[in-house]
Amino acid sequence: MPTRSIVKLGVNIDHVATLRQARGGEYPDVIRAASEAVSARADGITVHLREDRRHIQDRDVFHLKESISVPLNLEMSVAEEIVRIACRLRPEKVCLVPERRQELTTEGGLDVVSAKKRLAWAVARLQDQGILVSLFVDPIPKQIEAVYDIDADFVELHTGRYANRTGKDRVRELERLREGAVLAHELGLGVNAGHGLDYENVQPVARLPHIRELNIGHSIIARSVLVGLRNAVKEMRALIRRASR
Ligand code: PXP
Repeated sequence: MPTRSIVKLGVNIDHVATLRQARGGEYPDVIRAASEAVSARADGITVHLREDRRHIQDRDVFHLKESISVPLNLEMSVAEEIVRIACRLRPEKVCLVPERRQELTTEGGLDVVSAKKRLAWAVARLQDQGILVSLFVDPIPKQIEAVYDIDADFVELHTGRYANRTGKDRVRELERLREGAVLAHELGLGVNAGHGLDYENVQPVARLPHIRELNIGHSIIARSVLVGLRNAVKEMRALIRRASR
């Protein structure tokens, strides 16, 4: 049997900042949260610097870059201002995502086919700074092929539809993710996945071929209210490791 590597866990701490912004104060401290997640052996820290700055702020990303000992993955749109910040910050990785002002969270993947030129511009600018670039897409072959066409390093497969479905529909969505992972790998892209993953639905995704990293936020931060962030990360990490061994 071919051996596979253990799937990594990137912990998205946006919602620690959501809680802080609710009162506009200093706590909970996102740097402390990142360090708790790293103590529980998170493989990376992910944050989304949104154009509307509803949770993570500019100072957070610069403090995080200075203080964490694991790779920082910045989720971002391709707005000129945000690309400029990313080029100054130089995180290890960025994941380009679509962004709409009114959405509750990222809704659906990028339409890479329609926005190829703009995305190719952002990919090239970021890679020039030594940053690895991933594009968040639905598991649709022509979108994955477009990610390859514009020379990105990774795809992050959008698992939101899988997470929101039940029964046979969920099985069908998992199959689409499997086919997407295989295609991306054949094209030479690294394969990550995320969105809507929780303690109940994560393992089938962690078992898919070629997945390198899962980026998980809301479910971990929500669980941390009850069991603490270290335990919440440990529990998620154990589920992923068991499934991907
Ligand atoms: N991956 C991407 C590209 C995202 O935009 C998000 C949400 O910020 C996540 C993963 C994490 O999603 P969730 O908070 O539902 O785990």
